Amino acid sequence: MNKASEYQLQIEDIHLSFGGLKALSGVSTGVKKGEIFSIIGPNGAGKTCLLNCINSFYQPEKGRIIFEGRDITELKAHKIAGLGIARTFQNVELFAHMTVLDNIKLGGHVHLKSGVLSGGLYFGKARREEMAFRRHIEEKIIDLLEIEHIRKQAVHTLPYGLQKRVEIARALAMRPRILLLDEPCAGMNLEETEDIARFVLDIKEEWDVTIILIEHDMGVVMDISDRVCVLDFGLKIAEGDPADIRHNEHVIKAYLGEEDKTYSRLDA
Ligand SMILES: Nc1ncnc2c1ncn2[C@@H]1O[C@H](COP(=O)(O)OP(=O)(O)O)[C@@H](O)[C@H]1O
Ligand SMILES: [Mg+2]
Repeated sequence: MNKASEYQLQIEDIHLSFGGLKALSGVSTGVKKGEIFSIIGPNGAGKTCLLNCINSFYQPEKGRIIFEGRDITELKAHKIAGLGIARTFQNVELFAHMTVLDNIKLGGHVHLKSGVLSGGLYFGKARREEMAFRRHIEEKIIDLLEIEHIRKQAVHTLPYGLQKRVEIARALAMRPRILLLDEPCAGMNLEETEDIARFVLDIKEEWDVTIILIEHDMGVVMDISDRVCVLDFGLKIAEGDPADIRHNEHVIKAYLGEEDKTYSRLDA
C-alpha cells in the first residue's frame, strides 16, 4: 500500500511509445475523488493513450498508475474494470443487435459472482438480493439518462447520440468508482451536447463517482470541470481549474495550430 494520498488515482511518470513515436513522455497527474477531471489537448496529444494506460489496454514502458493506494499498472484490463474503473470509447462500442436494456445489463455482469468461477453455486438469497439490487440500479440509470422510451429497441436502430447515452449507461451499470469518458460529445449537435454535459454533472452529483473526461468541446470542458489537464505532443503542459487554463499562455499557444474555432471557444 502507498501512503495516503489526496488523490484517488495517481498517474506517475507515464511513458508510452509506438515504434519511434512517443505518445506519452513522462505524464504525471492526480485525480481527486468525486471531481470531474478533464483532459484536453490537440488531436494526437496522447489523451486516449492515457486512458488506455489507466485501464491497461496499453502497458506503459515506464511509470505507475496507483488507484486508491494500490499499484494497478500491471493488472489486466478486466481486473481493473472489476476494481471499479469503467469507460466509454471514442467510437461507440456496444452490442449493436441487442436491446438497450440488455446492453445495460451486461455492464452489471462484472459484479455477478459466477458459480463456476468462484468455485461454488451462487444461488439463493444472496443471488436474489444481488439481482434485485441490479434491477434497481438499471432503473436508476435508465431514468438518469432519459432512455426509458428506447429500452426495448435494438441499439443499431438508434441514432448516434442515443447510442452514446446507452454506452454511458452500460458503463454506469458497472457501478464504477471512476468513470472514463472519451469524447462523449463528439459528433453531437448542440442540444445533444448540452444533454450529455447535464448527464455528466448528474452522474457526479448523484452517483458518488469520479469522472475523467476527454472532450474537445471547450464550452463543455470549461462549464463542468473541476480541474483540467492539458496534453500536447505527449507532455503535460498545464493543469488547473478552468479559469486558470483558459488564460494559460502555453495552452493558448498549443491550440493556435488547431482550428480557429477551438481557439476562439477556449477564449469564449
Ligand atoms: N495503437 C497505436 N499504434 C500506433 N500509434 C498509436 C496507437 N495509438 C495511438 N497512437 C498514436 O499516439 C499518438 C497519441 O494518440 P491518441 O492518444 O489517440 O491521441 P488523442 O489525444 O487524439 O486521443 C498519436 O500520434 C497516435 O497516432
Ligand atoms: Mg482520442
